[in-house]
Amino acid sequence: MATYRDDFYRLPALYDLEYAKHTEDLAFYGELAKKAERVLELGAGTGRVTQAMVDAGATVEAVDLSQHMLDRLTQRFASQGLSHRVNTRMASFLELPDGPQVPLVVLPFNTIHHVYTGKDVLRVFERVKARLLPGGTFAMDMLVPDPAFFDRDPDGVHELRHFPDPVSYTHLTLPTKRIV
Ligand SMILES: C[S@@+](CC[C@H](N)C(=O)[O-])C[C@H]1O[C@@H](n2cnc3c(N)ncnc32)[C@H](O)[C@@H]1O
Repeated sequence: MATYRDDFYRLPALYDLEYAKHTEDLAFYGELAKKAERVLELGAGTGRVTQAMVDAGATVEAVDLSQHMLDRLTQRFASQGLSHRVNTRMASFLELPDGPQVPLVVLPFNTIHHVYTGKDVLRVFERVKARLLPGGTFAMDMLVPDPAFFDRDPDGVHELRHFPDPVSYTHLTLPTKRIV
């Protein structure tokens, strides 16, 4: 199984802050969800895309490996009185459990980059196929990586941008690795 480092995903409020302005994909997934009505979302995170699909009228099974991210997703929909529109499931999409077949499965926002071998990519796609109704749609998006990005020191902490911390994460021991 591919390794999974969830350092980034244990700070879900920071995740939301970092991607608050990333909205260009929402109309795409919202449109698909409007037609499908029932959606299985893999790597749902804090519900950024889930929200667009729920707003479009769909009910969503939201799968993620990070309980931190799913907790924030749960809070998001509870605070809107929309908990009945979203079922969360903590699981890896590499070992996606059986469940009801749906007309639409989505794997948004570069999440496939968390799958590190061709064999595992096929494994994910096989699990997607098992959960899709015949003739259903599978939609995903991914960036075309810049080779320089992958050439960086994998053990370093790479500074991308600054922003104020919106919450206090003092209860967590954050990585103290050097910035390269
Ligand atoms: C780039 S974020 C995308 C989150 C959300 N879909 C969005 O668009 O903001 C990737 C998400 O995939 C989850 N993830 C990574 N590997 C996973 C796996 N093997 N199975 C399920 N979720 C995984 C992470 O925990 C994270 O929430």
